[in-house]
Amino acid sequence: MSMEQERGIESSIIECAGVCKSFKTPEGEHQVIKDFNLQAKENEFLVLFGPGQCGKTTMINLIAGFEKVSGGSLKFMGKEITKPDPSRGVVFQSTALFPWMTTMGNVEYGLKMAGVKKEERQKRAQNYIDLVGLQGFEKSYPVQLSGGMRQRVGIARAYCNEPKVMLMDEPFGALDAQTRYLMQEELQRIWEAEKRTVIFVTNNIEEALYLADRILVLTNCPATVKKEYIIDLPRPRNLVSPEFLALRKEITGIMDSTL
Ligand SMILES: Nc1ncnc2c1ncn2[C@@H]1O[C@H](COP(=O)(O)OP(=O)(O)OP(=O)(O)O)[C@@H](O)[C@H]1O
Ligand SMILES: [Mg+2]
Repeated sequence: MSMEQERGIESSIIECAGVCKSFKTPEGEHQVIKDFNLQAKENEFLVLFGPGQCGKTTMINLIAGFEKVSGGSLKFMGKEITKPDPSRGVVFQSTALFPWMTTMGNVEYGLKMAGVKKEERQKRAQNYIDLVGLQGFEKSYPVQLSGGMRQRVGIARAYCNEPKVMLMDEPFGALDAQTRYLMQEELQRIWEAEKRTVIFVTNNIEEALYLADRILVLTNCPATVKKEYIIDLPRPRNLVSPEFLALRKEITGIMDSTL
């Protein structure tokens, strides 16, 4: 192991080599992930772009540590992932907030569990509540918030644990188109303000191109990486620039040919 690896500052924070995942079903083995290779670099915004039901959530669950790989190697900062860890925060499609807790209660929850004192954790939670634009809603309960606002609480809550990696599984998939655009802008602003490694799953090409440093296009189930695109368009991205539209057309073509 090199000194850099020992200090945990090698450039790839997540390394996934030849990962396979199968589930046992009454009909037999169901292979969902096949020979999957991925390297996420520090502070990179990596998008996994794949068709419906291809195994995207399974991949997020493996990286989060909710599920174990059936084969291959999956490492976080040089160590095999065996269980969930607060250093890998997760935001789901419909974020499961605690309905009996306020925005503040939900956001500070992780720090409370970690034993951080009230004054300190509320100060840190407030910082992230402000960052996601929810100031004034600290005392609101989830039922009093819109879908977009609830996702903001979920993002603030994940950020508040100061994870090294943010795993986002179609976090805006349940939102209406207008709110979705707004949230994409917000997320890109938040990411610029507080850089993190983000692994973001979507099946929306515009969203992928708007956010990504790099896009991995996945095949149908069992999922594997079909193609990689490095997206070096300047941010914030113009959704109707010729470069954006050309990439959109090309990647959509690749995706269609995987179906
Ligand atoms: N625990 C499990 N047991 C058995 N099969 C599973 C399990 N989890 C997922 N699968 C199967 O794996 C396949 C991929 O599921 P997964 O949820 O990972 O796909 P996805 O790309 O996230 O889908 P979606 O686009 O709907 O979000 C599906 O066929 C699903 O039924
Ligand atoms: Mg999914």
